[in-house]
Amino acid sequence: MQRTLAIIKPDAVGAHYVGSIIQRIEASGLEIRALRMVNLTQKDAEGFYAVHKDKPFFAGLTAFMSSGPAVVLALEGENAIRRWRDLMGATNPEDAEAGTLRKEFGTSIDRNATHGSDAEDTAAYELSYFFCGLELR
Ligand code: CMP
Repeated sequence: MQRTLAIIKPDAVGAHYVGSIIQRIEASGLEIRALRMVNLTQKDAEGFYAVHKDKPFFAGLTAFMSSGPAVVLALEGENAIRRWRDLMGATNPEDAEAGTLRKEFGTSIDRNATHGSDAEDTAAYELSYFFCGLELR
């Protein structure tokens, strides 16, 4: 069993895709273990995306992630990290395969609807960033 952090980003929340995306998660067989809506400050987003702090897109990314509410979820299942990434599709919606969430709900690499952890160590950090022990045991 593996856990991963999923985010429904402010673009997708603003476009009222929360229900559709959660439906797709549940249909995929991944279990939702925790779920919450958050309103990040830019500082919160900077802490979450600290691994990208030297990238040219960091300022835009953190401004976007703090521009409106987002939904954070802890997903669980066998190979949950890979399965959630496959369901999302490529980072850039233009490159994402048909039927993936980013293809369907994303509009650009900056506004790509969803986020997922990329490895076990980042999943552990990202899950602990949003969920306390009371919410996720
Ligand atoms: P996400 O999976 O949330 O991880 C970092 C985000 O930075 C990524 O999705 C994109 O939305 C955004 N981003 C913007 N430009 C780039 C880029 N050139 N490479 C990767 N991610 C980018």
